[in-house]
Amino acid sequence: VGLAGFFPQSFGSVLRRCEIAERRVNVGVVGLGMGRAHIRSFRACSHNDIVAVCDIDECKAAETAEEFGIPRYYTNHEEMLALPELDAVVVVVPNHLHAPIAIDALQARKHVLCDKPMANDLDSAKMLYDAAVESKCKFLMGMNNRFRGDAAVLRRFIDEGDLGRIYYSKVQWTRRCGIPGMGGWFTTKDQAGGGPLIDLGVHMIDLALWLMGFPRPYSILGATYAEFGPKGKGGWTYSEPGGGCCDVEDLASGFIRFANGASMFVESSWAQHCEAEKIQVELYGSDGGATLEPLRVFKEEYEVPVDVAPDYEKITAHKALAAHFIDCILNDAEPLATAAEGLAVMRIIDAIYRSAETGKAIVVE
Ligand SMILES: NC(=O)c1ccc[n+]([C@@H]2O[C@H](COP(=O)([O-])OP(=O)(O)OC[C@H]3O[C@@H](n4cnc5c(N)ncnc54)[C@H](O)[C@@H]3O)[C@@H](O)[C@H]2O)c1
Repeated sequence: VGLAGFFPQSFGSVLRRCEIAERRVNVGVVGLGMGRAHIRSFRACSHNDIVAVCDIDECKAAETAEEFGIPRYYTNHEEMLALPELDAVVVVVPNHLHAPIAIDALQARKHVLCDKPMANDLDSAKMLYDAAVESKCKFLMGMNNRFRGDAAVLRRFIDEGDLGRIYYSKVQWTRRCGIPGMGGWFTTKDQAGGGPLIDLGVHMIDLALWLMGFPRPYSILGATYAEFGPKGKGGWTYSEPGGGCCDVEDLASGFIRFANGASMFVESSWAQHCEAEKIQVELYGSDGGATLEPLRVFKEEYEVPVDVAPDYEKITAHKALAAHFIDCILNDAEPLATAAEGLAVMRIIDAIYRSAETGKAIVVE
């Protein structure tokens, strides 16, 4: 997907184009954990109304509706989808429910913003991909990191050729002590699909692939470890104490070879004996390199190494994601993060997990 006329300059133009459109988008949100943050993001954008929320926890649904002045709340997403005035749905439930609820929404002719990961496993992701392709509605993957101001500026540098041919990337989202919801769905493989790789690594893999132009992977090697969770260690300080299920990894690493000769190293953890949390993308190209967080471009000018520290707009990525979703619906724009890309990321995650299990490199079709 080209970025022409999108970020960062076009954030204003997206909103201007929305102003031309008279219609407003009626949005419903399913899942009211992170879903509450999505409500705030949509509220901060024009040309939409949150008309309904849904959570199986009735108290949460009722309290959220009251807090935000939302007219309707539901405990069953199918009942919410039957609401005729509903145009679009944000799916923010535990990972194993992304595909079934997003498919129901698409089949009910609602536009869908699906939070990451696309699904808890590859088969479900394929089913969601098929439903998105068949649907006439918009489907946007909630890859909010692509909407960061620094990512948009780096993408501009790459599109202008500053890095040349990108042949190697290193992506990392690692934590010292940050297993979320210990004992709950996050640490239960049947529901989450995995640990930090599918929770955090998914963001960084997607971001690097997008910056690299989504090269086709062909061989993937992975390893996973669970040194903390099964012992009840490594949780967020605010997690429920120990107990419950923890059958996912707390550290995953992977090495991906692409058909164009490029490769990517991935490291993702919820808990490891490291200094502090690290969220980083490094790209190495024939004419330049770059890092995100902080955004730096490393080049050579007149045979002298030069570090460039570009300035960029500190936009709120989730707000930009919401604005883009509204723009896609009102102005028939192409979603920036597609179902095909969500599926491509899921193929990589699936292969890293399979390689970790078998100890062998996985050849991706
Ligand atoms: N993009 C991001 O920055 C970001 C950040 C956090 C979480 N997430 C994603 O958001 C999703 C939810 O994570 P969370 O942290 O909000 O989890 P959570 O457990 O805090 O919230 C999930 C909510 O979904 C509700 N729920 C469960 N089953 C439901 C059903 N069938 N119908 C309606 N509601 C249902 C639960 O009651 C709960 O309130 C996950 O997929 C996670 O990966 C994304």
